[in-house]
Amino acid sequence: MSLHQDLIERDRKVTFHASTHLRDFAHGDAPGRVITGGKGINIVDKDGREFIDGFAGLYCVNIGYGRTEVAEAIYKQALELSYYHTYVGHSNEPQIELSERILKIAGMNMSKVYYGMSGSDANETQLKIVRYYNNVLGRPQKKKVISRMRGYHGSGIASGSLTGLKAFHDHFDLPIDTIRHTEAPHYYLRAAEQHGMTELEFSAYCADKLEAMILEEGPDTVAAFIGEPVLGTGGIVPPPEGYWDAIQTVLAKYDVLLIADEVVCGFGRTGSDFGSHHYNMKPDLVTIAKGLTSAYQPLSGVIVGEKVWQVLEQGTGEYGPIGHGWTYSGHALGCAAGLANLDIIERENLVGNAAETGGYFQQQLKANFEGHPLLGDVRGVGLMAALEFSPDAKQRLHFDPALKVGPRVAAAAMEENLIARAMPQGDILGFAPPLTINRGEVDEMIGRAKRAIDRVTDELVRSGDLKSGEKEAAFTV
Ligand SMILES: Cc1ncc(COP(=O)(O)O)c(C=O)c1O
Repeated sequence: MSLHQDLIERDRKVTFHASTHLRDFAHGDAPGRVITGGKGINIVDKDGREFIDGFAGLYCVNIGYGRTEVAEAIYKQALELSYYHTYVGHSNEPQIELSERILKIAGMNMSKVYYGMSGSDANETQLKIVRYYNNVLGRPQKKKVISRMRGYHGSGIASGSLTGLKAFHDHFDLPIDTIRHTEAPHYYLRAAEQHGMTELEFSAYCADKLEAMILEEGPDTVAAFIGEPVLGTGGIVPPPEGYWDAIQTVLAKYDVLLIADEVVCGFGRTGSDFGSHHYNMKPDLVTIAKGLTSAYQPLSGVIVGEKVWQVLEQGTGEYGPIGHGWTYSGHALGCAAGLANLDIIERENLVGNAAETGGYFQQQLKANFEGHPLLGDVRGVGLMAALEFSPDAKQRLHFDPALKVGPRVAAAAMEENLIARAMPQGDILGFAPPLTINRGEVDEMIGRAKRAIDRVTDELVRSGDLKSGEKEAAFTV
């Protein structure tokens, strides 16, 4: 048995893996892989096999792999001070500097940064802030939060409730009862051309659905709306034209806070510093993680806008110190990694590269895949994109889920030494490479993806499944 196989067998006996078929993995019926290193956009496994990581881990390794200067910054900080808590006004120098940098990049009248370790815990903090805010304002009934079907906001009890994907609710008794889900802004699927809607009309339709939900629930019970600037895990779907303007008009009308979940879009992925900048969003609260440290250390944050901050201050004036905190809030090693990461993003103009090379990437995806017999939709922005497969693009039909077209394409891509992600809802292949990628690497990535897609297309032609499809099943959470 190779060293790699031996490690995998040991792993099967002892590890509970995230998002994994637990029985199949534990019993050797699902593959494992041990990753040992990486450089730039590539990762290497224990056998020395190299892959292009077309998804930057989980769209988080934005500066690419193997950046020794981040490792050195963490090491230097660890020699000085690895940790001291940040309760009751204690701080550390990297935390102070990182907060200053984040607020400067964010703008948008943001006031303070609260730190956590993951996007999920940051969204738990968001929900607590929203509740506290309305209690301080004497509106104890204003507590519901509206999210979207296909939204992804984490997998805790509350953050998983915000998530609008069935697999994260079923068998966990979620969502909790103060969370609602409105229409997904998925133009291709939900506003199929045969309904005759333009993007602008579909955006107005989404805003109308939101308004109807607020009115039905009672505006005095709806506290906040949460959304990713670009839907991520739900299918990598940029918003249709005019979407955020239309949504924000409704939120303003009913005094509903906007939480921008920038865990994926933040720090450059769309080609702007924040997705909120890209789509002219004016959030009250912002969630950040992933690109904040490019995953060199676990670190997340909640950026609190001035309007909300004023109320939090008023609350502690009335109730005393806020009853919220994690042991690792503002962890010095995370903040040191964050600073080194932001240095690289700025020095190498990675946000500019996400716009420029991202533009090339989007153009090449369209050139290679639009009109391809397996493709329904080719979409994206900056350095995030999706290929949605369909047996009939015009009618927006879906393959029989039993054919597992998305996972089969991802597996075929692996054979080409390319990692692209089979997204969990539908037959969708996602791309979100490190923001360091260059045009040559884009060409290589697309070439490998094309070979994989052509191979699965041939298999489906041979099995007679290429043209058999069904209409979208009613999609609810
Ligand atoms: C938009 C968004 N929010 C929150 C999360 C949850 O982050 P984490 O997995 O770090 O808890 C994710 C994770 O993919 C995400 O994409």
